[in-house]
Amino acid sequence: MTDPAPVLVLLGGAGDLSMRMLLPSLLHLEMDRLLPEGLRVIAVGRAPGDADSYRADVRDHLKGRDDLAEAWERLARRLDYVSADAAQAAGAEALKARIGEAGLLVLYYALSPDLFAPVTRALSAAGLIGERTRLVLEKPIGRDLESSRAINVVLAEAADETQVFRIDHYLGKETVQNLIALRFANALFEPLWNNLAIDHVQITVAETQEVGDRWRYYDAYGAIRDMLQNHMLQLLCLVAMEPPSDLDSDAVRNEKVKVLRSLRRFTPEAARDDSVRGQYVAGVVDGQPAQSYEAEVGKPSGTETFVALTAWIDNWRWKGVPFYLRTGKRLASRRTEIVIQFKDVPHSIFGPVGDRDLVANRLVIELQPDEDISLTIMNKRPGLNGEHMRLQPLPLSLSLAKALGEEGGRRRIAYERLLLDVMRGDPTLFVRRDEVEEAWRFVDGVAQAWADAGVKPLPYAAGTNGPDGVAVPDRAQSTGLE
Ligand code: BG6
Repeated sequence: MTDPAPVLVLLGGAGDLSMRMLLPSLLHLEMDRLLPEGLRVIAVGRAPGDADSYRADVRDHLKGRDDLAEAWERLARRLDYVSADAAQAAGAEALKARIGEAGLLVLYYALSPDLFAPVTRALSAAGLIGERTRLVLEKPIGRDLESSRAINVVLAEAADETQVFRIDHYLGKETVQNLIALRFANALFEPLWNNLAIDHVQITVAETQEVGDRWRYYDAYGAIRDMLQNHMLQLLCLVAMEPPSDLDSDAVRNEKVKVLRSLRRFTPEAARDDSVRGQYVAGVVDGQPAQSYEAEVGKPSGTETFVALTAWIDNWRWKGVPFYLRTGKRLASRRTEIVIQFKDVPHSIFGPVGDRDLVANRLVIELQPDEDISLTIMNKRPGLNGEHMRLQPLPLSLSLAKALGEEGGRRRIAYERLLLDVMRGDPTLFVRRDEVEEAWRFVDGVAQAWADAGVKPLPYAAGTNGPDGVAVPDRAQSTGLE
């Protein structure tokens, strides 16, 4: 007898994450014929509706994608909708009835974190969480260490840790995985990857978009919990971790946890001197007037939409190397990048040269908007330029799109990879419970230090680089190019 078909349940199936990310990802996977044979996708939402109205809604969100019309027809046949409150016994029973038999059951929580525990309890009581069930949870898991532990305890009562897949979609990005290849598949960098050769590291996630419709969630979390606790600390871990013994999921995650444990705890002095909180006020973004965060929220708010702080990793490799972390909404441009700033040469043999003539090497790993890795190298300026040799920095650039062309394929949504990994049962790119809890320990320390030191968000005009004095480095600065 063959196994019944697998079922993917999208809890919060009509919400922002499902519409913007999960369904487009499923559509792309459908187009590439990568979805498991017979997969059924059941969306669950509290809004009234049925499969037909849901398909029409999804179709509206995917409009403009005529190239995918045929794939859409196939995906639409898999889609179903259950109008139910999955946190209630009746809702969980209704969902169970609709699922019927499932070979593999993937329950994807595209929900606000405060629903994680009640939904898990209701689904578990309905008998929906068995050995062949996988639970997929979006970040942030909780709002602090205590609430994240409470969620993790409920998850642990319902399922084994190997069945829990905590998503940080940054780990599904091609360039983020490429960081592992760059560090450990090249002999060039690893000997220099330490406090002897590296001056500092910058990790920047700058966004132009506003908080918009998500303000209810965002206002209770802020930039530190929405971005820093997860995406930025994950990037930091991949830059800073020791070489794992292999790519086994636990080997990689063990190394990441060690980095998180080595993060220096924040103090009120560090909060005052080494961190900045900001909140956008009205301004101009891409030539259009942009309203303030408080106007979006409709009330005064003390939530930060920008954070910049210096993190220190107290271990042998990184002692004394600051990691500058910066992220914000409504900034001047969209860019996600990691800059590894090497130290100056110990001594210049080039005589009296200007600052711009002899700059230290930089490795810039750009994740967004383009995927690019570049290393600035000092060169002689061509020509007969005077008494002294003139120098200039030039990039050795590996633009993934240019280097790989067709072979690089189209740029995938990070969720495509992660959805497939869940269905295959590969946990490598998911965050383990101890990682989440260590990351919260650090972030709770920052929040406490801010409270103790009275650090409040400073205003910055939408469309700028954040509060005065905390520049998000622009392309020229970050590569050292003119
Ligand atoms: C999400 C955050 O996890 O990541 C959002 O909740 C943020 O606030 C988004 O906009 C950024 O993701 P990306 O892939 O566009 O950099």
